[in-house]
Amino acid sequence: MRRGKFVFYFFELAFICSFLFGCQEQNISSVSEQVEDLLNQMTLEEKVGQMTQITIDVISKRENGRTEPHEIDLEKLEKAIVDHHIGSVLNITTSAYSINHWNEIITQIQDFAIKKTRLGIPVIYGIDAIHGVNYTKGATIFPQSIAMAATWNLELVGKEGEVAACEMRASGIPWNFNPVLGLGRQPLWPRLFETYGEDVYLASLMGAKYVKGLQGDDISNPEKVAACAKHYVGYSFPLSGKDRSPAWIPDRMLRELFLPVFKAAIDAGAATVMVNSSEVNGIPVHSSYYLLTEILKNELGFEGFIVSDWADINQLYLREKVAPTQKEAVRLAVMAGIDMSMVPMDFSFYELLLELVNEGSVPMWRINEAVSRILKVKYELGLFKNPYPNKKLKKNFACDEFTKVNLQAAREAITLLKNNDELLPLPKDKKVLVTGPAANLLSALNSGWTITWQGDREDLYPESKKTILEAIEDKTGNENVTYLPGVTFDKDIDINAVVKAAKSSDVVIACIGEHTYCESPGNIDDLTMSTPQLELVKALEKTNTPVVLVLAEGRPRIINDIVDNAKAILMTYLPGFEGGVAISDVLFGDFNPCGKLPITYPKYPNTLMCYDHKNSEITAPNSYDVQFPFGYGLSYTKFNYSNLKLDKAVVTESDSLEIQIQVKNVGRIGGKEVVQLYLTDLFASVTPPVKRLKRFSKILLEPGETKTIKFTLYKDDLSFIGRNNKPVVEPGDFEITIADLKEIFTLK
Ligand code: BGC
Repeated sequence: MRRGKFVFYFFELAFICSFLFGCQEQNISSVSEQVEDLLNQMTLEEKVGQMTQITIDVISKRENGRTEPHEIDLEKLEKAIVDHHIGSVLNITTSAYSINHWNEIITQIQDFAIKKTRLGIPVIYGIDAIHGVNYTKGATIFPQSIAMAATWNLELVGKEGEVAACEMRASGIPWNFNPVLGLGRQPLWPRLFETYGEDVYLASLMGAKYVKGLQGDDISNPEKVAACAKHYVGYSFPLSGKDRSPAWIPDRMLRELFLPVFKAAIDAGAATVMVNSSEVNGIPVHSSYYLLTEILKNELGFEGFIVSDWADINQLYLREKVAPTQKEAVRLAVMAGIDMSMVPMDFSFYELLLELVNEGSVPMWRINEAVSRILKVKYELGLFKNPYPNKKLKKNFACDEFTKVNLQAAREAITLLKNNDELLPLPKDKKVLVTGPAANLLSALNSGWTITWQGDREDLYPESKKTILEAIEDKTGNENVTYLPGVTFDKDIDINAVVKAAKSSDVVIACIGEHTYCESPGNIDDLTMSTPQLELVKALEKTNTPVVLVLAEGRPRIINDIVDNAKAILMTYLPGFEGGVAISDVLFGDFNPCGKLPITYPKYPNTLMCYDHKNSEITAPNSYDVQFPFGYGLSYTKFNYSNLKLDKAVVTESDSLEIQIQVKNVGRIGGKEVVQLYLTDLFASVTPPVKRLKRFSKILLEPGETKTIKFTLYKDDLSFIGRNNKPVVEPGDFEITIADLKEIFTLK
């Protein structure tokens, strides 16, 4: 019954589209016909196999308990692809492989799927190319997403997607488990660095642009790959801050903050969605019909397929305890709307789902719906025409052009948080003392999802890439640089020696931050920067030598104790393979910093508030006491804002509101500025946030240059999720803020 409806709707839509828009949409119709045709030929076993994803370990040779470097075991491959009809394979974790090795692996898998199975359905291989193709040797490794967000430069984020797609296809991998679209509103969460920060508007634009970069307008283009918007939904907001732990998100907040980012990615065409491993409001998302089917598929109109996260269907039984058996966990998840299970270590999902269908506990329409979605993406990706690596793209792999984009992204991400007495930029002839555990480690600039899952194998990082220390030496000459680490991330080495060296140096560059991590191994109990690092900097700040703090961290570790006495502070997040060069470019004035915080930098571990907090969260005058606010970032030049003008003082719902502002570079060097427009709803039936980012524009101004920036707001920009959990627009007064200028208008 349900299945019939789905098909009817799909065909009807395809027909209307092809009638209206001609040949491009004929593809839609032919994809749906091909899916339908293939589905009709498939056995139940073949269908359930398509819904099953296993890890490459399952089909690899094993020696002394190890599978790396993965080599396909043909007997195991046969068991997976021929006996179990597996539709998808994923991942590696312990090292990056050469393009050639990837090409061999993918070719073997596809050869088997195409030539040795009855219907020749290609496998869809997926990987976490989180900041570039981190599991292919020599790839272009970008800043992590939190740093990309700090660029406030959508073009760069789009380019990152394009580069990743090209290098993935060259490796033969057509499916990327990225972008991470949870909002980074819980700074303890170890995956904060995978997000585009705390703001719904910025993250929505960034996520959509990245999806467009990865997928283009047509993922059958052999240079494009399928995106996976993850982890739907609420994963990024665990109450405790620990990975994979419960979130409590009322529906209003879900709709106001967490869903729009996914909606934007779906509207941009995201082909697949991965599910939050944990629970929201007591319901594990892997078992939530409401979130997966009612909202994601029906309300947001998602037409691609939903994949579970790693072993998370089984976790409904093992960890979440909402299913008393593994089989019931499979039933719950499939009926909630999951189309593919990342099982990934065995064939249990396949076997249990077969049993469930044969017993009548999972209806055939649901299987057909899931498999249609999976096949649709496989057809759209062009895998049926050519499932093999795109060898032509090898020549572009990590080419100079890609490295240039990467360097520009790292430079634009770096956020200057403090610069007393214009200490920065530094002249290149100063005697520099470089210290801190992040100074001479590439891993500290990259963290998780780099070459290995945890990104901790410093020995595997490419020698050609520069650490901060090496890049500084390139600027000043080795003779001007002294390097003493002083401490590791968690132990004192010799702070006294560093203090002594500081006394004979012109400036200290203290590179501190976090050791590498991702997912649960990155859980922490305290957001404060580690004690040895704080001790090192405090000791250095007692000398008369000025201290520049360079922060290399995936989340804003509390540094309140060392901020006041630092002369300058650079937030570099996790700036990727070109991070060292970009940092030294900023330190020595070869690049004028223009990054802006995409998160609030907290001052106290227990006052964690986002910029768009409620008025009542300010419990005393000036109690919104953060270290550095969202959107903040200095430049080596100065920008003056003036003449904020609105074209109307009173608007109706059908009007648009034109806003303009003049920005002048009143300093001596050119620079980029992010002009940010915030809106405050002064009174509303649901307590309004103090302000919300509604528009921004990143502009370049030469010294003395003035630009007039225009923005337009529409009715939807004034709306919020009302008492009935639906969007409403209420008449009343609104305030526009750009820099420190404000104007009020009234909605009639
Ligand atoms: C992570 C996902 C990732 C998957 C496959 C999981 O542990 O939560 O983000 O895509 O592993 O590597």
